[in-house]
Amino acid sequence: MIIKDIKIEYRSNPLGLDVAKPRFTWLLESDKSNTAQREYSLVVEKNENIIWSSGAVSSDSSVLVEYDGISLEPCTRYTVGLTVVDNHGEKAEFDTWFETGLLVQSNFKANWITHCYEDSTENCPVYAKKFTPKGKIKSARVYASALGIYMMDLNGVQIGEDYFSPGWTSYKNRIQYQTYDITDLIKNENFIEVNTANGWYAGVFGFDGSKEHYGNRTAIWAQIELAYDDGSKEIVVTDESWKCGTAKTRYAEIYHGEIIDNNRKFIADGNAAIYEYPIDVLVSQECEPVRIIENLEPKEYITTPSGEAVIDFGQNLTGFVGVHIKGVKGQEVVVYHAEVLDKHGNFYTENLRAAKATDKFICNGEGEEVFRPRFTFHGFRYIKVEGIEIEKCKFTACVTHTDMDDTGYFECSNEMVNRLWSNIKWGQRGNFLDIPTDCPQRDERLGWTGDAQVFADTASLIYNTSLFFTKWLRDLKTEQTEEHGVPHVIPNIMSSSDGAAAWGDAATIIPWSLYQSFGDKRILIEQYESMKGWVEYIRSKAGGKHLWQSGHQYGDWVALDIANDFAVNGERVGATDAYLIATAFYAYSTELLIKVADVLGYKEDSLKYNKLYANIVDAFRKEYITENGRLVSETQTGCILALHFNLAQNEHRPRILESLVLNLKKRNNHLSTGFVGTPYICHTLSDNGAHDLAGVIFLKKDYPSWLYCIKMGATTIWERWNSINADGNFDESGMNSFNHYAYGSVGAWMIQKLAGINIIKPGYKVSRIAPMPIKGIDSVKARVKTPYGELSCEWACKEGVMKAKIVIPTNTTAVIEMPGQEKMSVGSGVYNFEYATALDLSILRYSTESTLGEILDNPAALSVLKQFAPDILDNPMIKFALAQSISQLVPMMPDGGSQLFEAAIAAANG
Ligand code: BGC
Repeated sequence: MIIKDIKIEYRSNPLGLDVAKPRFTWLLESDKSNTAQREYSLVVEKNENIIWSSGAVSSDSSVLVEYDGISLEPCTRYTVGLTVVDNHGEKAEFDTWFETGLLVQSNFKANWITHCYEDSTENCPVYAKKFTPKGKIKSARVYASALGIYMMDLNGVQIGEDYFSPGWTSYKNRIQYQTYDITDLIKNENFIEVNTANGWYAGVFGFDGSKEHYGNRTAIWAQIELAYDDGSKEIVVTDESWKCGTAKTRYAEIYHGEIIDNNRKFIADGNAAIYEYPIDVLVSQECEPVRIIENLEPKEYITTPSGEAVIDFGQNLTGFVGVHIKGVKGQEVVVYHAEVLDKHGNFYTENLRAAKATDKFICNGEGEEVFRPRFTFHGFRYIKVEGIEIEKCKFTACVTHTDMDDTGYFECSNEMVNRLWSNIKWGQRGNFLDIPTDCPQRDERLGWTGDAQVFADTASLIYNTSLFFTKWLRDLKTEQTEEHGVPHVIPNIMSSSDGAAAWGDAATIIPWSLYQSFGDKRILIEQYESMKGWVEYIRSKAGGKHLWQSGHQYGDWVALDIANDFAVNGERVGATDAYLIATAFYAYSTELLIKVADVLGYKEDSLKYNKLYANIVDAFRKEYITENGRLVSETQTGCILALHFNLAQNEHRPRILESLVLNLKKRNNHLSTGFVGTPYICHTLSDNGAHDLAGVIFLKKDYPSWLYCIKMGATTIWERWNSINADGNFDESGMNSFNHYAYGSVGAWMIQKLAGINIIKPGYKVSRIAPMPIKGIDSVKARVKTPYGELSCEWACKEGVMKAKIVIPTNTTAVIEMPGQEKMSVGSGVYNFEYATALDLSILRYSTESTLGEILDNPAALSVLKQFAPDILDNPMIKFALAQSISQLVPMMPDGGSQLFEAAIAAANG
C-alpha cells in the first residue's frame, strides 16, 4: 500500500491558505483487494517543531481530515507528515507542506491605491514601483488584489499564470487576494508593474449595457514581503510612492475586447493616490485560479462566400487568441470572434448581441511580435481577421477557465454519444470561468443560479467543483436576503427582484450535490443558514396553503411545449404550470434541508421541516393530482417532477408514468422539456421501469434531441434545442447561445445509469455499481476520480456475452449489481465479470413509428426515397413532415406511399 498524494483543502502545496483548520485528504493505493485504512497519524511541524500531532487514530477517515492543533500563524510554511497503516498491516508514509496567508487583519499592511485619472476615463491604468532589497533574499511573496482585474509583471516577467484575478465575488462584501512566490524573480533592482482593467468591477456588464456596477475607479492593493537570509523581513506596500500611468493595453472590456499597442511602453502620468476602501473585505483566493488550460491550433483557413478571412479552430471554446505577427510599424490587425458560421458559410455574430468581442493589435514593426489579450475573453470557434493575410501569422486559441482537477471520463461504442460527452465537458470548460456562467459569448455571462443548479451533478462528474462552488455559494449566501430570497444571478448586478423556483433552489441543491460528490460536510455547515433561509423565503410566499403560487417564475425555461415559445407575453417558460414547478421545488428544497439537518444533527430543525414537508406534499397532491391520480398540467416536466421528487402517492405513480410515456409517444418519443425537466427526464424513466424508453429518447437523432445538435455540427451544448433549425436557420429570439451547459445535465445520467457509477455514502465511501445498458450502445468505459481514488466501470455486451471490469478504490466498499446477476457487496479491488446474457443491445431497429427525420438520416433509406423524389430534401413539405412518424404520414400520402416508406425502412435496417 502506498500513499499516492495528500491534498490540503483540495490543493497540492497551497500558498496563502487562510483556513483556520485546514483539512487533509490522502489517496491510498494498494494492489491487495479489500484494503481499508486501519489507522492514521498526522504530524504538522513549523521549523521542525511539532505543533500538532494527531497521535495514532484508529479510523478509516482519509478524506478532509481536519487539523486540530494550535492557531496557525500567518505567512508561515508548515510541513505535514502522514503515516497510514492498513487492515493488512502494511504501513506507508508521505510528507508535504502548505503555507498560510495573511490570516488576520493586522497583517494587511498595504493600502488601496487608485490612479491619477478622472474616474474611469483611463480604461487600463498601470501602477508601478521600483524597489531594492536590503540584503540576500531567502524568500519573497506578493499578496495582491484589485478593484477591477489585474496582472502583474516583475522585471518584465509575468507573475504567475492566473487570469482575471481577483476573480468575481460579491465585491462589496468579499474580494479575493492572490499569493505568489516571487523569490526567483527578485533582482538587485526591481520594477513591478500592475496592469489593470475594468473587469467585472467597473466594466460594461449585464444585458442592459450599463457599466460601473461596483464603482467608477479601479484600484489595486499589494504587499510584497521579502524575507532575508539573516532572518529579517521587509514589506513593500502599495502607497502614494507608486507611480501610475499607461502602457501597451489601451483598452479592455470583457464583452468588447482588447486593444494592445506595441508602440507603447509604460509612461508615468502621475502618482497613485490612497483610495479609501475597506480592507476587511479581503479574503484569500478560495478556488483554483483561471488559467490557460490548453492551446488549440487552427483547423482550417476559410474564405467565406462574402470574402471574409476566417479561421476555424474546430471547437467552440472560451478564451482568446494569441497571434505571432511580422508587421510594419502602426499596422493594425483586428480579430473578431464567432461561435458559428451561418447556413451560407459566412461569419455570424448576431447572437453575441451587444458584445463586440473584437481585439485589435497594433504592431511596432520590430520583428516578430506576439500579442495575447489579458483582460477579455470570448466564446468562439471561428475568428475573422482583418489587416493582415492570415496565412502569414501564427494564431493560437487559448482555452481559458478555472483550473479544476479532472474527475470523470466517459466513452462508449456510439461515436455520436462520445461527441455528446465531449460537448458537455466543453460546455463546462466554457462556462466555469471563475463563476458558473450561463454563456461565454454574448452580453450576458452571468452567474445564473438556475443554470448552475441544473448542471451541478454533472459538473462534479467532469471536474472537481468543490472549491469552485464553495466560493460561489459564499457569494450566494452573502447576497441572499430575507425579503427577496436568492438573486437570479450571483454575484448580483441586477436590480433586486424576488427569487424564482429552480433558480433560487441552487441554494439547497448545489451544497447537497457537492456533499454527495466530495463528502465535504463543511460546505453543508457553511451553507446551512442559506439553505434554511431559502426554504423560509418560500414559506413566506406560500403561507399556510403551502403552495407557492405568486410572483415571477421562469417555469420550465425554454421548453418546447408551448407551440410558439413566445406565446405567453413574450415569455419562454414552457407549458408546465409555473406554480406547480414552484411548489414541487418548495417540497424538494425542504426535503434536502431535512437531510442536511440530519447529517449535521440539528434535531429540532429536522422535526420542524419534516412537518412542513408533509404539509407541502399534501398541499401539492390536493392541488395538482386528482383523486384518480391524474396530474394537472400533464406535461413531460409536470410528470417528471411529480415522480422524481416523490410528490405523487404510490398508487398514482403508474398513471403519471403512463401520462409521461403517452406524452412522449405523441411526440414520437421526443422530449419537449426545458431547463427544469431535462436533467431528470432520463433518470425518471430509468428509475420507474421505463429505462428502454430513456435510451430511445437519449439516442434520438432528429429534432429535438441531444444527438440532433451533434448531427448539426455542435461542439458544445446549445442553449435551445432549436438553436439551429434543420434548414440551417438560426433561432432568432435574440437569445441563442451555442455554449449553454444546462442541457448537458444528461451527463449525470450517462455516468450513473449507462456506466452505473453511483454514490451510496458521500464521497463514494460506499458506491453502487449498476450498469443499465440500452439498445444502440454495446460497450461503455467510464471513470470517476473519487476523493478515495479512481472508481471505474467498463462493460461490453456482445453476442450474448456480458463482460465487465470494475475497479473499486482503496479504503472504500461497493455494492455491485450487474444486469441479471446477484447483487454482491465488495471491498476495494478489481472485479471481472463474464457471463451469458439474453440482453440484446443491437442497434435500434427502424419501424413505422420512426420519424421521417430519422429515416432521412440513414443514407440507405435516403437513397431509396431519393429514387422516387430526387428533391426530397428541398421540399418545403418535408420540413413540416420531419418530426412526424411514418405511420402518421402514410394516410396523407398518395397511393404507394406506404410501400415506399416500407422499402426505406427495410433499407435503413440493412
Ligand atoms: C440566461 C439563462 C438564464 C435565464 C433566466 C437567460 O438570459 O441565458 O440561461 O437562466 O436568462 O431565465
